[in-house]
Amino acid sequence: MQTFLHGRNLIGDLDFSKEEVETILDVAFDLKRKRALNEPHAYLRDKVLGMLFFFSSTRTRCSFEAGMAQLGGHAAFIESKTTQISHGDTEKEIGEILGRYFDGIAIRQCDWEVGNKYLNFVASASRVPVLNMQCDTYHPFQCLADLMTIIEKKGRDLRRKKMVVSWAYASSYSKPLSVPQSLILQMPRFGLDIVLAHPPEFKLMPEIMEQAQEQARKFNTGFEVVDNMEDAFKDADIVYAKSWGPLLTTSNNDECAKIIKKYDSWITDESKMALAKDDAIYMHPLPADRNVEVTDGVMDGPHSVVFDEAENRLHAQKAVMALTM
Ligand code: CP
Repeated sequence: MQTFLHGRNLIGDLDFSKEEVETILDVAFDLKRKRALNEPHAYLRDKVLGMLFFFSSTRTRCSFEAGMAQLGGHAAFIESKTTQISHGDTEKEIGEILGRYFDGIAIRQCDWEVGNKYLNFVASASRVPVLNMQCDTYHPFQCLADLMTIIEKKGRDLRRKKMVVSWAYASSYSKPLSVPQSLILQMPRFGLDIVLAHPPEFKLMPEIMEQAQEQARKFNTGFEVVDNMEDAFKDADIVYAKSWGPLLTTSNNDECAKIIKKYDSWITDESKMALAKDDAIYMHPLPADRNVEVTDGVMDGPHSVVFDEAENRLHAQKAVMALTM
């Protein structure tokens, strides 16, 4: 167990060592148990988290806000468009000033080639921890909740279990690459064999791929890339299929929409899930494009763990806040 997390940022998935992530999971499970038993756990009494959003959210906002209240503190919801950021507040000013008001600064900034840089600039000027509520590169709190859910459903020993991280078709908007990138970085450290499936245009960032392959080598786990959803789903223990935008054109929405349209057969449906193991779990961070990205039958069916996964955002985030703030 590693306990020296106070004051640390969580921006990228590998910012914490495997042992530190194990500590976070232990605390998250303990907090989940305490909440189920109505046991008070006000570890952050009088502390305030500033939550700065450049992009909409349901789960992230609600779970951080509820989590801070349950820990005895408060979360301040700030939308970039109702601040002076659009009139010139710089990253340095945000880090310096919000760091003097708050005990932690959480930020969601998903703009392509902007978000991760923004978080790191703020962090370099802040005296309090900066927590990544999703950027263009990583979604670390989603990934911690995913890992917690996988352990609940499949046990602590995940070695030789097959996890499919698949692209899926969605028409609503071009989604960030952050969820699949976080998954392929973190999951090999916990023994999962990764099969990444996507059409050719939907590659992940090369530097993230290199780091993920390095993690797989280090932890002696499988790492395979395929371009076919059916091949990927065969005998899977965990299916995690969601949409993301094409890498090279992520900033051009019209161009993205044209490319995405070519792959409307990449839907998670009952026939594809039947290729996975009988006890396979289906995961999605939500929101999903229902009956476009995934059928209602899968989303609401026996394999789906999406609501437990969403709940675990609360417990994983509370663990990180309690340990870092
Ligand atoms: N999964 C997730 O981050 O959900 P929100 O976009 O609703 O926060």
